[in-house]
Amino acid sequence: MIDSKPIKSVAVIGAGAAGVITAAALSREKYFDTIRVFERRDGAGGTWIYDADPTPPIEIAPGKLPPDVDPPLSIPKTLPTSTPPNRQERFEKTPIYDSLTTNVPDIAMSFSDIPFPGGPFVPHEVPHHYLEDYVTAHKLAPYFVFNTTVEDVSKLPSPAGRERWKLTLRRHAPDRAVDEWWSEEFDAVVIGNGHYSVPFIPEVKGLKKYTTLFPTRITHSKYYRTPHPYANKRVLIIGNSASGHDITAELVSHAALPVYQSRRTASRWDGPTPPPGMAWKPIISEFLPSGRIVFEDGSHLDDMDAVVYATGYRASFPFWNARANGGPIWDYQNAKVVNGYWHTFLHTYPTIGLVGVPRVLTFRSWEYQAITLARLFAGRLAKPLPPVAEQRRWERRRLERTGHEGLKFHDVQWETGETHGWLRGLFEWAGLGTLEGEGRLPPALTKEVVWAIEHLRKYPEPGKGGRDEGDGEGEGEGAGEDGWVVVTGAKKDLLHFV
Ligand SMILES: Cc1cc2nc3c(=O)[nH]c(=O)nc-3n(C[C@H](O)[C@H](O)[C@H](O)COP(=O)(O)OP(=O)(O)OC[C@H]3O[C@@H](n4cnc5c(N)ncnc54)[C@H](O)[C@@H]3O)c2cc1C
Ligand SMILES: NC(=O)c1ccc[n+]([C@@H]2O[C@H](COP(=O)([O-])OP(=O)(O)OC[C@H]3O[C@@H](n4cnc5c(N)ncnc54)[C@H](OP(=O)(O)O)[C@@H]3O)[C@@H](O)[C@H]2O)c1
Repeated sequence: MIDSKPIKSVAVIGAGAAGVITAAALSREKYFDTIRVFERRDGAGGTWIYDADPTPPIEIAPGKLPPDVDPPLSIPKTLPTSTPPNRQERFEKTPIYDSLTTNVPDIAMSFSDIPFPGGPFVPHEVPHHYLEDYVTAHKLAPYFVFNTTVEDVSKLPSPAGRERWKLTLRRHAPDRAVDEWWSEEFDAVVIGNGHYSVPFIPEVKGLKKYTTLFPTRITHSKYYRTPHPYANKRVLIIGNSASGHDITAELVSHAALPVYQSRRTASRWDGPTPPPGMAWKPIISEFLPSGRIVFEDGSHLDDMDAVVYATGYRASFPFWNARANGGPIWDYQNAKVVNGYWHTFLHTYPTIGLVGVPRVLTFRSWEYQAITLARLFAGRLAKPLPPVAEQRRWERRRLERTGHEGLKFHDVQWETGETHGWLRGLFEWAGLGTLEGEGRLPPALTKEVVWAIEHLRKYPEPGKGGRDEGDGEGEGEGAGEDGWVVVTGAKKDLLHFV
């Protein structure tokens, strides 16, 4: 309940981990008349759905952001209606590659009430099946509307009182070979659309021309599935975060050696020298029409067969109608939600919630966000959110501080205590369920979860312990049977791997 009018209908955008746990939290309030989770894929799982065929291939658009490469579709003037099927790329497919395993210990990644079957680091199909099973276990299936894309979210005119939201929805009807369009109205909306769909390739001198001269050479890690197409090929990978690290390591046993990796910053897995079979390069300064790739230190590579940009993703909100809603929801310059509070609320629109935006623990954090939003919309917060002026101050101060410290606005750090403070905030607003038992309880951050986050690593990290190592900040305690390591004493960058 906000502004004394009860919120009875809630729409959720996306059925990844964020949408699934939001449905679970809303359902447990036993308060809402309508809960609808709209998902463009044909099932729950989000990022964890594996697409063996990653086509269509990426159109290389160096430096271009989602408003350019993933723009809104044009909405039919009258609804309901049908149109010829959409042909515009919408980036629904996921970046999961065959060998991918999770990189967050199971106890800290899964939702609090049902564990992953196995661990600590599990193959990608485990989180996918886990999310599908979670829907069944909590009897959530009736809330889900699959194969349905939210194409527009617009505020409805509300001369007096609280706003409502009109969602314009599109579903492909294969039997009629058309797209069907219709709209539905809701009191509140939770946005859980994920932010690893639209790949990003930075602007580099000569890159656009290079892609026309050598159209098959450049790709993005989103489209990588197996090392086989790269057998005996000369390959350069750009980026050394999780995707760049995994792909480079896998290619060492398939591609021509050395496999080159272009690094902007040393990553947590990098030691003083590259591992056998790999060679490091600095960032690229120019692509030449001859095919030569020139690096910042003046060195170059000729005749590369493949260049894989593992340079991450940009959040995309093509459905957010900026004109109807008073402005955009995402600030690309500062990589942040516009008018956001606590990475979860909008101080301009208290009936909009966001689950899954921050870079922090994933499923488990989304659980706290989902419960708090369910409680807010049901009018059962244990204590009110701060006044709008204070929420605005939080946003302004965080932008100043993160800018000053060179941090990203939505990265929530562990070792500074920030994650604890953030979760505590959500926990305290959500409070306990009602005496009658309605509502899901926010979980305790147990010693076991904290220990796993601080000590279990998927890969050894030089200088941070693990295997037989024991120097620098950490001391090693050996390796698990799948190669994961236990580290002790490491105190920096603890959530950097997420
Ligand atoms: C390669 C890779 C590996 C990862 N590995 C890990 C890991 O090991 N551990 C970890 O904790 N995290 C990992 N992550 C992060 C991962 O994204 C999170 O674990 C989690 O899945 C995010 O859940 P989400 O629901 O927020 O987003 P998503 O899983 O992306 O789900 C969003 C859903 O919204 C749907 N959607 C989007 N727009 C619309 C629309 N307009 N209408 C309808 N539906 C829409 C999408 O189809 C999707 O199903 C990884 C990410 C990537 C890319
Ligand atoms: N489970 C797993 O093992 C696994 C595997 C893959 C991905 N993931 C997850 O998927 C998400 C995305 O990971 P990601 O590795 O694809 O992307 P990412 O973490 O955003 O990393 C992007 C990489 O590209 C580099 N980069 C960005 N812009 C650049 C530029 N202009 N020039 C040169 N380099 C540039 C970055 O360097 P800087 O460091 O200098 O910015 C970084 O190395 C993360 O949450 C990650 O944990 C998990």
